[in-house]
Amino acid sequence: MNSQLLIKEALMVLSQGEMLVGDLLVREGKIAAIGTDLVSDCGRIIDARGLVLLPGVIDPQVHFREPGLEHKEDLFTATCACAKGGVTSFLEMPNTIPPTTTQEALNEKLELARQKCLVNYGFFLGATPENSEDLRTANPVCGIKVFMGSGHGSLLVSKEEDLERIFATNNRLIAVHAENQERILQRRKLFAGNTNPAVHSQIQDEETALIATKLAVKLSHKYQRRLHILHLSTGVEAEYLRLHKTPLITTEVTPQHLLLNTTAYEKLGTLAQMNPPLRSPENNEMLWRALKDGVIDCIATDHAPHTLQEKAKPYPESPSGMPGVETSLPLMLTQAKQGRCSLAEVVKWMCTNPAKIYKIPNKGELKVGYDADLVLVDWENWRPVLRENLATKCGWSPFEGWNLTGWPVYTIVNGEVVLDNGRINTQVRGKPLFFSP
Ligand code: DOR
Repeated sequence: MNSQLLIKEALMVLSQGEMLVGDLLVREGKIAAIGTDLVSDCGRIIDARGLVLLPGVIDPQVHFREPGLEHKEDLFTATCACAKGGVTSFLEMPNTIPPTTTQEALNEKLELARQKCLVNYGFFLGATPENSEDLRTANPVCGIKVFMGSGHGSLLVSKEEDLERIFATNNRLIAVHAENQERILQRRKLFAGNTNPAVHSQIQDEETALIATKLAVKLSHKYQRRLHILHLSTGVEAEYLRLHKTPLITTEVTPQHLLLNTTAYEKLGTLAQMNPPLRSPENNEMLWRALKDGVIDCIATDHAPHTLQEKAKPYPESPSGMPGVETSLPLMLTQAKQGRCSLAEVVKWMCTNPAKIYKIPNKGELKVGYDADLVLVDWENWRPVLRENLATKCGWSPFEGWNLTGWPVYTIVNGEVVLDNGRINTQVRGKPLFFSP
């Protein structure tokens, strides 16, 4: 490892949104100095003129499929995609095989990650109706994941009494996939036989999400528990949270729910199918407003790769989910370029706030003493999303053809250059994330 790295003349987005054209010195994996005219007597120098330097993205919701579903993605291919997308840390979901519901399964995942991950990693522990002891004791975890609906096997916890027990007996952050399972099952019957993927958004409708979000908020209030609502998809939920959020409640939105809507089914078919589903264009607008107002705290991709062959099955056999880690930062930086938000807001939503929500110390900001998790992006030139350029094993993106700016040129993890002028250095390994109590 190069113990010293000097980045020269980048446009830096510092804490509190302050901008500075200057230099950043990395020593022993940490940010050692930020200023102008910095010099270094050893190690590497990156000439960053014309590039923008941001803290590395922390993606707080991904599905990387290993162990058990490696035909879709694995920790190596997923983290190559992270390197290309400027994602230097991720929090991964428990719906693997076996599911991450015990200390043993968590240990297995951590060992695989140690061997294969090019970026930093953290894992959720999955709740089942039965594993309350594991939920209390397994370590290290960033939080407990509860599928209230759209669940997978043992990971589905849809009954209120089971949810009540989880909220009553824990003091960890609870992250919920908020969809009401009973309503999904009822509405599937209504649309039985309809193979148009667009009905997915009607089956798992806005009310399906709102019912579950209201229940999770109620339980958080009742037991004074830390609640994070995953991938908020509707304006009605955002408006509900605007009124009922407490300091114990946070939420996130995906780029898909901000930038795609039900019109996408026509072009993408089942590739546009995800849970919770895409909504109307009006919902895009309401989610943007809630994000800008701070009702929504951060951005997550819900990177959920499935093969094209699996996606080609007719609805409803086609699986739900889309990949995202490779495109999230350029998508949002393109929005910033087009004036919809600022660079500082992108940093807050994708770097600073995920670190705060999950209490990950020394990450998410360009600050002396912080970990040198960094991304240098080209915010001048434009390049389309092309299938042949993707590193994710699933090999497709719902954003193919979109012309974007802000593509990462260098991604740096703990001071090591993992994306080097556009090329992935597969020798780099990330570290397990630490979560403060
Ligand atoms: O669409 C989705 N797919 N949403 C989820 O929350 C899970 C994911 C998956 O694992 O495929």
